[in-house]
Amino acid sequence: MDKREEHDKFELMGRALAARNHAYAPYSHYAVGAALLTAGGKIYEGCNIENASFGATNCAERTAFFKAVSQGEREFVAIAIAGGPEGEDPADYASPCGICRQVMHEFCGKDFRIFLVKNAGESKEFTLEEILPFAFSL
Ligand code: THU
Repeated sequence: MDKREEHDKFELMGRALAARNHAYAPYSHYAVGAALLTAGGKIYEGCNIENASFGATNCAERTAFFKAVSQGEREFVAIAIAGGPEGEDPADYASPCGICRQVMHEFCGKDFRIFLVKNAGESKEFTLEEILPFAFSL
């Protein structure tokens, strides 16, 4: 990873952790934040937004993607994700759900990077191909 990529990674990690503060999670009390980097260098944040009709809940990752796509973005480089019990720092890594992986597949190539964030200094990195092999396409 070169200096620029390293800088982007830490920026995304901090933004994902901060985005957790906007989570609307009155049912699960599990707060997730995501920060999505576009090819043009912009960052879109997202949080989970729950609903009394549970199936209407939107995950943090999809919130970030839908914000970005609705602003005209189509090319993405990386996403950072941080999640854990509301009001606490994450004690563990939160991994994207299957629906969010499929949304990533819709807009991203196999080398799209996913940073799972535990805190400002600890993360794990995967590619989209690693976490969604043999993905569905039309
Ligand atoms: N959640 C996310 O925001 N992202 C994921 O990838 C997994 C789950 C949210 C949805 C719900 O608000 C809470 O975490 C518990 O499932």
